[in-house]
Amino acid sequence: MKSIVQRSEIALAAYLPSAESAPQTLHEAMRYATLGGGKRVRALLCHAAGELVGAAPSLLDGVASAIEMIHAYSLVHDDLPAMDNDLLRRGQPTVHVRYGEAMAILVGDALQAQAFAVIGDLPASATQRITLLQELAKASGSLGLVGGQAIDLASVGSILPRAELERMHRMKTGALLRAAIFMGAHAGPDALASGMLVALDEYQRSVGLAFQVVDDILDVTMDAATLGKTPGKDAQDHKPTYVSLLGLDASRELARQLGERAHAALAPLGARAMHLDALVEMVVHRIH
Ligand code: IPE
Ligand code: IPE
Ligand code: MG
Ligand code: MG
Ligand code: MG
Repeated sequence: MKSIVQRSEIALAAYLPSAESAPQTLHEAMRYATLGGGKRVRALLCHAAGELVGAAPSLLDGVASAIEMIHAYSLVHDDLPAMDNDLLRRGQPTVHVRYGEAMAILVGDALQAQAFAVIGDLPASATQRITLLQELAKASGSLGLVGGQAIDLASVGSILPRAELERMHRMKTGALLRAAIFMGAHAGPDALASGMLVALDEYQRSVGLAFQVVDDILDVTMDAATLGKTPGKDAQDHKPTYVSLLGLDASRELARQLGERAHAALAPLGARAMHLDALVEMVVHRIH
């Protein structure tokens, strides 16, 4: 994991525009938003799924960088005053605090465009690049991340029925995690076998939901130094979360069950899925 995180940092730094090129402040802020922090869970999932199908690690670096750029953009916009109004991200002042709100909006816009440009330029077949672009676009858009964020904002102050809460979490967070897994798998040399598709789909459903359930838990249980974000924000902002709906103990039990389900989904894939399997533990037992 450590070596994948390290190579992901190097790849991201290379795929982002240089801070020396104009407009310098925009490029500096894009790098501030993206580099030097973050668990790189999406990059890790992408590499682990790619490893399963024999994808070239250098190709996966590009794919993972694009996904991490979309993720970084989503955090910059999520933190804006008009959204969650957060001052702390990855242990540092949020992009709008550091560079101003207008620049933070532009940083998100530019990171999003850069992600698709990176995929378009990858050394893969045209068919493969189109598949990757479609996966990333669908996960990012109104039926995925942005749609989930819209539901999140529209739900402030209300108690969502459990099915609605699950749908919101699957869209705002699960969709990009799903894309990380499937884009890694699509970076391989062959079309995905149906058994592999079924196993990965079952895996992503459990891991994707578990990730946001744990995010909801950590907001309640962790301190700012560990979390790198301001804790207690969800309750303060009256956000519907798993903790607010089910309580802490039931949310923890749900995360555990989802983790079990993710492990079970990988069983048919055997030892080849070792790294995807290890990532379940990281998602469920992380402390930030
Ligand atoms: C935080 O994501 C926002 C969610 C989608 C829950 P991460 O917990 O992956 O954030 P970083 O990248 O490690 O900072
Ligand atoms: C964020 O959910 C989801 C996206 C950024 C798409 P949260 O608002 O719970 O994420 P944090 O807790 O601010 O990282
Ligand atoms: Mg939010
Ligand atoms: Mg937030
Ligand atoms: Mg949160």
